[in-house]
Amino acid sequence: MTESINSKNFVRLIDLPVVTDPRGDLTFIEGERHVPFPIRRVYYLYNVPVDAERGGHAHHGLEQIVFALSGSFRIKVDNGTTKSEYWLSDPRKGLYINRLIWREMDSFSQGAVCMVLASQPYDEADYLREYDNFIEAANKETKN
Ligand code: TYD
Repeated sequence: MTESINSKNFVRLIDLPVVTDPRGDLTFIEGERHVPFPIRRVYYLYNVPVDAERGGHAHHGLEQIVFALSGSFRIKVDNGTTKSEYWLSDPRKGLYINRLIWREMDSFSQGAVCMVLASQPYDEADYLREYDNFIEAANKETKN
């Protein structure tokens, strides 16, 4: 069964449209149409050393979608109960990451570019940077 674009399942891959053309492929993204939130921020990682580790945090409220626009990398995700990992390498497939998900990124290929669409502007207060604090917040959520 195909999941609705509005599904808030904790992590899932989102397929974007592509317009293929002999001159090159074109992919486009419209907030609330192709991704389940209004896009309030876009940021990207580049010049990433191949042995770098990024992430290592969760968010109280932020939802994000992560793309490998070029090259590839791994994202490990953890909702406090279940852990999984994804290898991103296709610019048409984004990984939706809901709030309260611990994520770690590594194994970047040379020249990889990671683009992230975010549901809110940057706010350091929204970060959970200690794993124990994340587990506490995730457990509290499960009980409610
Ligand atoms: P961080 O989210 O910790 O990076 P990563 O998870 O990829 O390792 O952000 C690294 C630094 O960049 C941190 O000091 C905050 C700053 N930053 C901004 O100022 N604005 C942003 O939109 C983001 C994502 C980070």
